[in-house]
Amino acid sequence: MDFEIHHYEVLDSTMNTARSLAKEDNRGSHIIMADFQTSGKGRLEGRKWMARAGHSLLMTLLVREKANVRASPLRVGLAVLEVLARLPRDRSTREQSSPLALKWPNDLLGISRGRAGKLGGILCESAGNTLLAGIGINLTRHAYPEELAEISTSIEESGILVPEAGSRSVLEALARDIAVQVVSRLENDDWQESYTKALWAKGGQIRFTIGHPSRGDIMAGTMEGIDAEGCLQVRDELGTVHAYSSGEISRLG
Ligand code: BTN
Repeated sequence: MDFEIHHYEVLDSTMNTARSLAKEDNRGSHIIMADFQTSGKGRLEGRKWMARAGHSLLMTLLVREKANVRASPLRVGLAVLEVLARLPRDRSTREQSSPLALKWPNDLLGISRGRAGKLGGILCESAGNTLLAGIGINLTRHAYPEELAEISTSIEESGILVPEAGSRSVLEALARDIAVQVVSRLENDDWQESYTKALWAKGGQIRFTIGHPSRGDIMAGTMEGIDAEGCLQVRDELGTVHAYSSGEISRLG
């Protein structure tokens, strides 16, 4: 599949530009990219995605006829992880089976020296039948603001090598590879096993906020995995397994 790339220096959000394009042209396959966003959107209401210019991959992919695909944000996250996992690695993480993991529902984690940090995030929206798959990836340690340093990481810090990551042609080639893999994951329903393999904290004790983190109830339990709808399965202390479609997890001590 051939994607037309629209690469801007500055946008408010690649999601907004993608939405306008989805209305204007209801056929083509497009990737909207920006070096910087003035109003980058996070998955959760009220959260912003902040990324310093030139240190991130910021893109929204328009995928026709895929707005109603089950568990699409999880599948997009898996596709991104798969593309990043194919890139060469430096010595620091070569012994690790993978320096990458997926935190349900759609965070990409980088793991190095036993520390897991957020390396990227996925935001899926729809415009009619078109899926707008928004992807933000920290390329270097300069991508995220200092106040998020404790919980963030980047491709560079995870030992993944992207030579000349700041160059337009390198970013666009990576965006194309991601787009191809995203489409493939949305077209095939065999994503669940691969997603589960990459799932962070599987089998571990977690604390889970149901729904929006600022409003939801908190529960503790064992993370069992995910179901075919992409819901998180958590076993409570009485042994009952609950399935949640939205929320946020943090690992217990
Ligand atoms: C999250 O983890 O909260 C999701 C973050 C998604 C960020 C990307 S950056 C490209 C695209 N444009 C946006 O405004 N948001 C997404």
